[in-house]
Amino acid sequence: MCGIVGYIGTQKAKPILINGLLRLEYRGYDSAGIATIENNVIKNIKNKGRVNDLLSIPEIETLDGTIGIGHTRWATHGKPSSTNSHPHLDNSNTFAVVHNGIIENYAELRKDLENKGYKFLSETDTEVIPNLIHYFFSNSSLTGEMKFLNAVNEACKLLVGSFALEILCSLYPNSMLVVRKDSPLVIGTSQTENYISSDIPAILSFTKDFYLLNDLEFAYLTRDTVKFFDNNLNQISKNTTSIEWNATAAEKDGFEDFMLKEIFEQPKSIRETIGSHINGKCVINDLNISKEYLESINKIFIVACGTAMHAGLACKSVLEQICEISTEVDIASEFRYRNPLINEKTLCIFISQSGETADTIAALKLAKERGSKTIAISNVIGSSISREADYTIYTHAGPEIAVASTKAYTSQIMILNILALYFAQILERNLDKVEALKQELLEVPNKVEQCLKLANEVKEFANKVYKEKDIFFLGRGIDYSSSLEASLKLKEISYIHSEAYAAGELKHGPIALIENDITVVALITVPYLVEKSISNIQEVITRGAKTLIITNQDLGNKTFDKIIRIPEASEYVSPILSIIPMQLFAYYISKEKGLDVDKPRNLAKSVTVE
Ligand code: F6R
Repeated sequence: MCGIVGYIGTQKAKPILINGLLRLEYRGYDSAGIATIENNVIKNIKNKGRVNDLLSIPEIETLDGTIGIGHTRWATHGKPSSTNSHPHLDNSNTFAVVHNGIIENYAELRKDLENKGYKFLSETDTEVIPNLIHYFFSNSSLTGEMKFLNAVNEACKLLVGSFALEILCSLYPNSMLVVRKDSPLVIGTSQTENYISSDIPAILSFTKDFYLLNDLEFAYLTRDTVKFFDNNLNQISKNTTSIEWNATAAEKDGFEDFMLKEIFEQPKSIRETIGSHINGKCVINDLNISKEYLESINKIFIVACGTAMHAGLACKSVLEQICEISTEVDIASEFRYRNPLINEKTLCIFISQSGETADTIAALKLAKERGSKTIAISNVIGSSISREADYTIYTHAGPEIAVASTKAYTSQIMILNILALYFAQILERNLDKVEALKQELLEVPNKVEQCLKLANEVKEFANKVYKEKDIFFLGRGIDYSSSLEASLKLKEISYIHSEAYAAGELKHGPIALIENDITVVALITVPYLVEKSISNIQEVITRGAKTLIITNQDLGNKTFDKIIRIPEASEYVSPILSIIPMQLFAYYISKEKGLDVDKPRNLAKSVTVE
């Protein structure tokens, strides 16, 4: 999705903006642009293509200002082109705007502005914004900063949709305005400089102190001040939040790609996620949940998208078996429109690495409206989801930069297991199982280290099958949910068509797809399902499939092409272990195909629009 950066300070803005945009590249984009102000003139350089391509535009040499805004665009309204790229200016070149989000009523606003004599150059929804601001500014009798603020506020009142905006005005060359609604934006601050970004890692090397804006709050920035206003333009105060991530956490640190680094970081990210939650008992501080409340609920919903939803699937059984509470896992984009049966007797858990996924946030708002208690699980402190939910539990995976989620997924499974144990303790249910699983969770980081040692074995098999057109994944029980995640990882970074099936479903249709020499990967980690799974795999072998088996069981002398042996674990923990070779499998196939592992085509790290 689009990324925005901004700078106001004493240094030249251009290199800081370019640096920030490069760090936002992982979000996915197709065009880029920056604007600065010098001598009361806005200079604007933009084009389709990569951020580094901007540097070959000769005019960029003339951008010397110490205030500026930058943008990476992920096209929604209008194809990638120089004209459609941001920043967008109003007709008088007084205001420059970068925008992340979607203005749903832009066509109507554009028509009104055209009737007032404004001309439009681009096909974007964004271009209405600088022109609306100009309209309110030129019709205002106010003076000073309130005139600028008021014009932006009036414009925002007309916008339907989501937006994070940075606005420059050539008449205010020493100030910048930002505002957000349902779209991410953070302000990094230090004594003589202020920074803006769509997310924290992009500006982490400049500052660790951040202001977080709520919906429709405005920040008026100068070099050394930040003032905040609500949407009645009353000044409000805010404290900074200090972010503990260090800047190298957002660097490749010697690894070829962020994805590989993040795969190998998992022992650490899981350890940090366990943190102080397991200390004698399982503890989740600040989660004000009573025994009476837990006894009163009849259903838990876990709602999320993509990999985060798969983490929910992996943990359905621990909530059902250990807490004895019926648990349903739903895709956020389905949940929000399917009129789910939720009320004060349902507990809804929303998982989002970024904490900014539009569908997950909308689903959370729906659950709250219907009286359900809401818990968010997020990796980003202060993210939108954490501000909407009744309670937030953070995974401490550190910044995840590669588009394909790896370490966030395993941390999400870890935190859900801890949450299930915490609930079971409160409910005083299955306490012997609670104790056993608690001990097992503490051993997970070491077992993940053992899984990472399998990298070369996995790579060898990956190099044999990287030219395949289709690869199928099979699993039963908990291995089915891991298969779904393994298949998602493979398709998103290798572009190989892939499907995951519950192995028992094969005969009901998918087996028709199995032909000579096709690759089938099977996960077998549940002891009581071993025999059943093997029978299913025999069926594909009989039809000529090549098989890779990921297992923690002794499968004897069977005729599989390759067996990868992972450490033994209960079915609650095995999804964390079995996914490690599968993440590596996807990674090595993608590398062998020469693809951009960290930034797969058409994908964005943070899906902030529907
Ligand atoms: C896949 C992947 C996506 C995300 C999904 C939800 O590797 O990263 O499927 O898991 O877009 O994102 P978050 O967790 O940020 O809500």
